[in-house]
Amino acid sequence: MAQQAKEQKVKENSPIKDVEGLRSAMISWFSRVGKEYPWRMTEDGYEILVSEMMLQQTQVATVIGRGYYHRWLEQFPDIHTLAEADEESVLRAWEGLGYYSRARNLQKAARLIVEEHGGVFPRSLSQIEALPGVGRYTAGAVASFAFDAPVAAVDANIARVLARLFDFRERVDTTHARKQLLAWACSLVPDSGGRIWNSALMELGQHVCKSGSVACHQCPAVSWCRATDPLLLPAKKKRKAQVAVDEHVLLAFRRNKLLLEQEVGRRRRGLWKLPARAIEEIPDVSPAYKEQYSITRYRVTMFIHELQDVIAQENERWFRLEEIADLPMPSPYRRVVVDFLARQGKAIESR
Ligand code: ADE
Repeated sequence: MAQQAKEQKVKENSPIKDVEGLRSAMISWFSRVGKEYPWRMTEDGYEILVSEMMLQQTQVATVIGRGYYHRWLEQFPDIHTLAEADEESVLRAWEGLGYYSRARNLQKAARLIVEEHGGVFPRSLSQIEALPGVGRYTAGAVASFAFDAPVAAVDANIARVLARLFDFRERVDTTHARKQLLAWACSLVPDSGGRIWNSALMELGQHVCKSGSVACHQCPAVSWCRATDPLLLPAKKKRKAQVAVDEHVLLAFRRNKLLLEQEVGRRRRGLWKLPARAIEEIPDVSPAYKEQYSITRYRVTMFIHELQDVIAQENERWFRLEEIADLPMPSPYRRVVVDFLARQGKAIESR
């Protein structure tokens, strides 16, 4: 049975009484208070996929407020432009958002749509889910937001809303719990379309039924909600503690050129950064200064060593300053480079 049909069957058995009442309360609330995000003003699958990929690990305020979404669509207005772009410009446009595999997957998805779907964005849940970097949530979000498909989409906000609505006290980060939440989500989506319904659930999680605070007096679903102590839900395993690591990098500047290293690791492959060295390789062990940043579960202390006589190693190259602005570079290094050059009275473009 096709996935969408299977999920439709679940819908016939909603454990909530008066589902229609809940739907209309939610939809009328959302029609009054729902935010007008740019991706809510379009029915273009590609534009919605871009928003969802950006929003996977990044806040709305960054995606819109810092111009990423608009800039991206200006530079890559459609699937064809993105499919044909070179990877370096794609990574550069993503710079600052982190988790660069999202940008690479977006481009792979565009190429796949060109090659396998004749450049037309696929409409079915299973075809969308087959795109690189697209899981069940993102596929449901795109199918419902772009095509108004009556399908569920359970992200962290919606999972929290559902766990509270159904007073689900088991841990939500297990396969069993994810299935249960998806089944409940499927049981609630109206046949007439998932766009407004999923948007309303998401909005509720973002602004009313939040992780650290709840405003039940504002909640359109309060009469249906079974949670007795909503702030205890959803139940989760304790987060792993962050691991502290040190990183020693060089600021090697010579004849108006800066030495940079191209990453070969999986996560930031292709991006340029300050060259790293083992502490033993650095002649003057007193660092010029340090910066801190977080990446996944690492809290990195970056020691920055300004050195003169440096020999380029494998994967390292000297760049003229004018070239640096266009290179994709993880934000912590970009900040250091921009600050350093500003101190030298040599500004380069910064975001
Ligand atoms: N987070 C993930 N998807 C979103 C969306 N479509 N609108 C707002 N926040 C989101």
